[in-house]
Amino acid sequence: MGNAKLILEGKEYEFPLVVGTENEVGIDISKLRDRTGVITLDDGYGNTGSCRSAITFIDGDKGILRYRGIPIEELEQARFTEVAFLLIYGHLPNAAELTQWREKLTRHSLLHEDMKKFFEGFPASAHPMAMLSAMVASLSTYYPDDLDVDLNIVRLLAKAKTIAGFSYKKSIGQPFMYPMNHLAYTENFLHMMFAVPAEPLKISPTLERALNLLLILHADHEQNCSTSTVRMVGSSGANLFASISAGISALWGPLHGGANQAVIEMLEKIQADGGGYQKFVDKAKDKESGFRLMGFGHRVYKNFDPRSRILKKAADAVLAELGVDDPLLEIAKGLEEVALKDPYFVERKLYPNVDFYSGILYRAMGIPTNMFTVMFALGRLPGWIAHWKEMREQGSRINRPRQIYTGATQSPWVPVDKR
Ligand code: SDX
Repeated sequence: MGNAKLILEGKEYEFPLVVGTENEVGIDISKLRDRTGVITLDDGYGNTGSCRSAITFIDGDKGILRYRGIPIEELEQARFTEVAFLLIYGHLPNAAELTQWREKLTRHSLLHEDMKKFFEGFPASAHPMAMLSAMVASLSTYYPDDLDVDLNIVRLLAKAKTIAGFSYKKSIGQPFMYPMNHLAYTENFLHMMFAVPAEPLKISPTLERALNLLLILHADHEQNCSTSTVRMVGSSGANLFASISAGISALWGPLHGGANQAVIEMLEKIQADGGGYQKFVDKAKDKESGFRLMGFGHRVYKNFDPRSRILKKAADAVLAELGVDDPLLEIAKGLEEVALKDPYFVERKLYPNVDFYSGILYRAMGIPTNMFTVMFALGRLPGWIAHWKEMREQGSRINRPRQIYTGATQSPWVPVDKR
């Protein structure tokens, strides 16, 4: 495949092509402005590659998702800590590496005791995502430098679930539960969420398996909004905790990770309204309404999001195992069926995404809606970390996009008495 040709004002320019290992082709325009004086413009970066990356591959047309080459469907059998290692260090850990990795994640799960005081300043109504972002950034006050990146990576992965558990306890006025070293990562989180000092807690293996799957499915997704934010912030040399805190804030938006909370709120609205789907599907098609079918559509997937297929299956299995009959699951399935037959959704290739069914599982675990995006963040942590590490190792330039200025041309200063 030769170079790309651009003809601008009668002059022809050639730009080299970059071809990835899955034969994706990009035009390298890094010299475009130097050579032509013009820039490109790409609202939302839908057509723009920001980097080369070896971490995750998505084929949106075929509904393919692979972490370091391994299909997501094969990773359902993994443990989340294995997948975290795979994403961050590029290979599945052998037995010795896995034991050492788990040991470190266990050893670093406590927060500095003074960090508990930060929670006293938050109002009970504080959204857990606000607390998570603030507390992750605050970790840099205790671990100010990135001299030992691998240790800070362990600290972040180990402490984030403790911060999440403490945030939940803060929001319901219960005592904080400390991590227990004999518990595995997911069990430990459920313990910190649902145990109370007054009695022991038996953690359901069904819920532990469901949480493990949810964390794996959310672990990475190439250059999504929050991961690109982590790379953008990290490109200035900002430390790991500051970069990840920025990613948490980007994830919070209802068009991104906040969608899982918005999906349940939408399903509850449909339920309260008597359960009719068509009215909401019609509203989602009406641009004036400002309403969207949350959990539907994706910038990259123009087919089923493979994660939503897996989660739909898991929701059926987990609710059956728990003997839970959640009417919202039936509403979600009905809504999906109606929407997937509607020309508006078919023409725009709008399918359920990862957020459409995840909330049903979180509800089955007893996790409150305002914690759903925190759950997404806990899953996405290894992905964010892997991209921050890759960006640093690649020696990426500071990210600094250009713009097309559309404001006032040169104008004189006018003293206030003349305005
Ligand atoms: C995540 O990027 C990632 O990888 C993200 C993620 C990850 O793992 O990190 O997969 C996680 O964020 C999943 C997406 C969760 N968000 C939602 O479910 C919110 C609802 N979905 C949308 O707002 C939307 O589909 C986005 C934000 C997901 C994608 O937006 P795009 O790519 O900018 O698409 P668009 O807004 O340009 O929509 C294209 C058309 C428009 O109609 P037309 O202008 O062509 O007439 O489709 C319509 C949109 O109005 N549309 C929808 C819709 N999503 C898109 N119409 C109704 N309901 C929807 N959900």
